[in-house]
Amino acid sequence: MKYVFPALLGLCLGVVSAPVAMAQGPSSVAATTAAGFRPGQLWYDTEGNVINAHGGGVLLVGKTYYWYGEKRAQHEEEGVTVYSSKDLYNWKYEGVALTPSPDPQHDIAAGCLMERPKVVYNKKTGKYVMWFHLELKGKGYSAARAGVAVSDKPTGPFQYVSSFRPNGNMSRDMGLYVDDDGAAYHIYSSRENYDLRLARLSPDYLTATTQDSLLFANHREAPALFKTGGKYYLITSGCTGWAPNQATLHVADKPFGPWTLLGDPMTGPNAKLTYGGQSTYVLPVPGKKDAFIFMADKWNPKDLKDSRYLWLPVQFKAGQPTIDWLDQWDLSFFNKASNKQL
Ligand code: DGJ
Repeated sequence: MKYVFPALLGLCLGVVSAPVAMAQGPSSVAATTAAGFRPGQLWYDTEGNVINAHGGGVLLVGKTYYWYGEKRAQHEEEGVTVYSSKDLYNWKYEGVALTPSPDPQHDIAAGCLMERPKVVYNKKTGKYVMWFHLELKGKGYSAARAGVAVSDKPTGPFQYVSSFRPNGNMSRDMGLYVDDDGAAYHIYSSRENYDLRLARLSPDYLTATTQDSLLFANHREAPALFKTGGKYYLITSGCTGWAPNQATLHVADKPFGPWTLLGDPMTGPNAKLTYGGQSTYVLPVPGKKDAFIFMADKWNPKDLKDSRYLWLPVQFKAGQPTIDWLDQWDLSFFNKASNKQL
């Protein structure tokens, strides 16, 4: 693996070639290219600014990846950012995809919270559809709504559509999943986060249908759903605010379950705290069999914009998804036969 370090070349940044670990590094550096991932380090975009896309997810459109996430100030939420990349290492800032409204009466008034945004593409309508966890301005986490926005382009601007509690259920941490047959699902923490629920989306993906049921009541957050080998896997976190906790992995044959607990997919030192992070998404890597990237946020509650990204490869050991810590890695990791002990 060829890594490029700034000490050697003078002008380096990016996902792997970011400046060597600093507790609080510079918010911008000179631009160059990256050649891999360094979980937990500062990650810079192609202009040399620290990437600000927390609680996010990634959508592949053609050969371009789009990374959507929360734009954070020290504490405040400032909308949903979008970055693009051809290689998953070098990310170009594409702007704010969904901007809070200047109207103080609006559901997404500036000062609201739009957390964990995820975007999917609807083949029938040709629209990009964003779902996010919405909390109304000044109301803490009491609104517990799902918000929906649409765009004709992956980079936005997204137009706000509506927000609601799916079938009357509280909806906080969430993810979206589009199955091979085009059916899309909203997976969400409900009933003060005690329940994890799944709702099938309407054909236009703009709302939840009444096909909505409890998956399990284990007090879980941060759901990240993926499918491989005909099985659905679900990684979740516990509920400890911004502090890290132990992840769990569940498996099912169908999205609505029944879901079976497999245990903690993390292994090794600090595994019991998910390496300091919290799940947000599992990204399938196209063109590679059983190659998935576990995406997590290492939150910094004192300065949320300085929360870090932990992206780690999912390995299959004894047929079970497993996530080991790596200080640095690149996609060639998935080429190694030893990493595919299916
Ligand atoms: C945990 C959630 O997973 C985060 O998205 C955020 O809502 C924090 N709680 C707030 O404390």
